[in-house]
Amino acid sequence: MATPISKTAARKAPPARKPGKAPIAYTVPGMEINDAQTVIGILQDRLNALTDLHLTLKHIHWNVVGPNFISVHTMLDPQVDAVREMADTAAERIATLGGSPEGTPGRLVASRSWDDYNLMRDDALAHLGALDVVYTGVNGDFRKAIDDTEDLDPVTQDLLIEMSESLEQYHWFVRAHLENSSGQLSTAGAGSERVAAARAPRTRNAR
Ligand SMILES: [Fe+2]
Repeated sequence: MATPISKTAARKAPPARKPGKAPIAYTVPGMEINDAQTVIGILQDRLNALTDLHLTLKHIHWNVVGPNFISVHTMLDPQVDAVREMADTAAERIATLGGSPEGTPGRLVASRSWDDYNLMRDDALAHLGALDVVYTGVNGDFRKAIDDTEDLDPVTQDLLIEMSESLEQYHWFVRAHLENSSGQLSTAGAGSERVAAARAPRTRNAR
């Protein structure tokens, strides 16, 4: 007879499978199971990125300070709403393909390959400098996911292209605050959120 385990022990047990790797029993007609499995992995990584992004955008919405507070604070909420919708679309595409979308915070943190956003209360332009780095990472990975689904699943690729159109526009909204009249970005070449935040053109009374 199996030894009963406590609820605490059960909650602490490591997941039986690596996140995003659970085998599937069926998929959409006309698609090979192995191809669907690969696409589900790509979508799960995008779902993780989108969930992380809409939470990060809210975090910035709450932590901006300085004379540009209201413009940045109000600019971000429509992005939060749109990115949440994108996460829902990615998750439901995973389910449509026969997979099980992973949406819990613990699985997200265990699966992601990037660090948490690391600015707290700060000048609005410092946050926008750091957000430029965030969007650079997210949007670059979306372009790769679009390439990787080219031959596997044009339907998923179409969804990713539609999301990228908006995400790249939101990135422009951010970069327009960091650009001078010659078209140079103050954050050009910044490899981290901290460096980008320090290079952002802070407003005079936030120095
Ligand atoms: Fe709010």
